[in-house]
Amino acid sequence: KQALTITKMKKMKQLGEAISMLTAYDYPSAKLAEEAGIDIILVGDSLGNVVLGYDTTIPVTLDDMVYHTRATVRGAANTFVVADLSFMTYRLSVETTLRNAARLMQEGRAHAVKMEGGADIADEVAALVRAGIPVMGHIGLTPQSVHQLGGYKVQGKLPKEAQQLIDDAKALEAAGAFAIVLELVTEPLAAAITQELSIPTIGIGAGRGCDGQVLVYHDLLKYASPYREKKFVKTYADIGTTIREAISSYITEVKSRAFPAEQHAFGVQEQSEIANLY
Ligand code: KIV
Ligand code: NA
Repeated sequence: KQALTITKMKKMKQLGEAISMLTAYDYPSAKLAEEAGIDIILVGDSLGNVVLGYDTTIPVTLDDMVYHTRATVRGAANTFVVADLSFMTYRLSVETTLRNAARLMQEGRAHAVKMEGGADIADEVAALVRAGIPVMGHIGLTPQSVHQLGGYKVQGKLPKEAQQLIDDAKALEAAGAFAIVLELVTEPLAAAITQELSIPTIGIGAGRGCDGQVLVYHDLLKYASPYREKKFVKTYADIGTTIREAISSYITEVKSRAFPAEQHAFGVQEQSEIANLY
């Protein structure tokens, strides 16, 4: 299987073929997503919440993103991987943005970067694209601005806000972005933006009218404790419960000495080399 290209993504939009995107943050999550056949892997700065245990994405550093992107790409060498530029690794100057995005591609080995913002970052997006760095935009609820936005709420409900989001989407397209994430916007607005653009929109909490969908790995798998239910998420498994129950069984069997059993132990006469531990 060959990794998707930004040209093919645009073609998929034209053909009405939905684009599937999922976050992954390390080797095993990326490997499983690739084996399942995901179109795009996003190394989201949501790793701050779901992997590093912060309560927002704001503490996530560029070093964190590079480290996790590297591990993710090792697990999914044949999948298009997008890495988030984390809080304040852009917007300082075009030069800083270029330097930081280059690290995600050279050290992290991502195919593209994603950044939150619209018309306000169009000059930076254009500079990245000129340098050969594909950019995915991200508008609507932009978690790096949670304190400015006053919480995680649906965006673009007022006509003036909706118009701003349409303008932002068009500015990103004009700057050369290859796709745009629409996060937590109303279904009619997301559908309208999708129709206005020739580049694909990838929705999360943005309804049925987008060209593709993205979910956070830990949401799809219910891989958290406690798991916070969210209206826009569908959980396809309950890995959190599965893992907790498995660990609990292990503890019980260690305590009762049911594990290890005879079949797990080595006798003196046995072949003593194990082919590969992992
Ligand atoms: O960080 C992330 O996971 C994201 C997606 C929710 C789009 O930006
Ligand atoms: Na993100």
